[in-house]
Amino acid sequence: MRNRRAALAAIAGAASLALTLSACGQSGEGGSEEKAGDAKGGTIGIAMPTKSSERWITDGANVEKDLKAKGYKTKLVFGEDDPDQQVSQIENLITQGVKALIIAAIDNKSLNNVLQQAADAKIPVISYDRLILGSKNVDYYASFDNEKVGKLQATYLVDKLGVASGKGPFNIELFAGSNDDNNTKYFFNGAMSVLQPYIDSKKLVVKSGQTKMTQVTTLRWDGATAQKRMEDILTSSYKSGKVDAVLSPYDGISIGIIAALKSDGYGTAAKPLPVISGQDAELASVKSIIAGQQSMTVYKDLRKLAQVATDMVDATLNGKKPEINDTKSYDNGTKVVPAYLLQPVSVDKTNYQKELVDGGYYTADQLK
Ligand code: GAL
Repeated sequence: MRNRRAALAAIAGAASLALTLSACGQSGEGGSEEKAGDAKGGTIGIAMPTKSSERWITDGANVEKDLKAKGYKTKLVFGEDDPDQQVSQIENLITQGVKALIIAAIDNKSLNNVLQQAADAKIPVISYDRLILGSKNVDYYASFDNEKVGKLQATYLVDKLGVASGKGPFNIELFAGSNDDNNTKYFFNGAMSVLQPYIDSKKLVVKSGQTKMTQVTTLRWDGATAQKRMEDILTSSYKSGKVDAVLSPYDGISIGIIAALKSDGYGTAAKPLPVISGQDAELASVKSIIAGQQSMTVYKDLRKLAQVATDMVDATLNGKKPEINDTKSYDNGTKVVPAYLLQPVSVDKTNYQKELVDGGYYTADQLK
């Protein structure tokens, strides 16, 4: 919460700065500001998927803060994980005359028509974190190396189990994200590129038999859905034997899986929790890591992601080319979307202090 309060305070500070600057402009003293381009002072629409996960609230606040610091106004909406609601929210933003759109899609294939309306109104679109599919009207993509996220998760599991050095066999269960999120397959395929050889050599055994992505997805990344699936797997496939590892793609899912395992008696000296991955370094999961429950998370510095996305907006609106570092990985079915991909970091209890606390992402107090 502290982060949020700090972010809100910073937003308030940036807003009053913007007010001061525009007042300067009116009195004729703000020459350099006036030259910054027509779009300065315009409103940027930000469409985030849901408030049910802490990360998107942080994303929204970070993006607003950065845009305001660059002299823009903002309109931030959350789609509450309902694709139709997100489409109508974006339609409204277009009607309200936003100069650009930053969108983290709920359903990556549902935005084709509304993005055509944006293109007709000459509104550039930045696809935020999740790639929007099937539309040529996506200008840039700001995200992380999503395949690497999956590789980091799986590598951690494999290393902790010690399968590479000949230990095993071990039992593992697999979870993937929402099937309407383009990131899901990148995370899963990245993870399976590490796990599959051990599954093939039977060093890793998936007792449920559910190894295909279509069998292991979790609609809307919902923790309760994952909890239910883990309970079902424990009932049907673990009458004997125990789960040694769980591939979880996201912290909210990990929390659900851990709840299912605990109600089945895991989490004691006799029956320890399996090694379990996660993603997003959400507060509850970092605390769980410190408490020795969730094993790791993949930390994606959302401050950097907001910076990349807002730089893309600012450059585009000022007729410049934004910085990109990938022009081949993200084909959305109509074109390869030029992207800037940030690097994810594997975090567990040995390095959370350095990465998250020393790095200023959380205060030590927040993690108590
Ligand atoms: C993905 C995102 C992950 C996680 C997940 C659930 O698209 O890349 O970091 O946040 O959604 O919200």
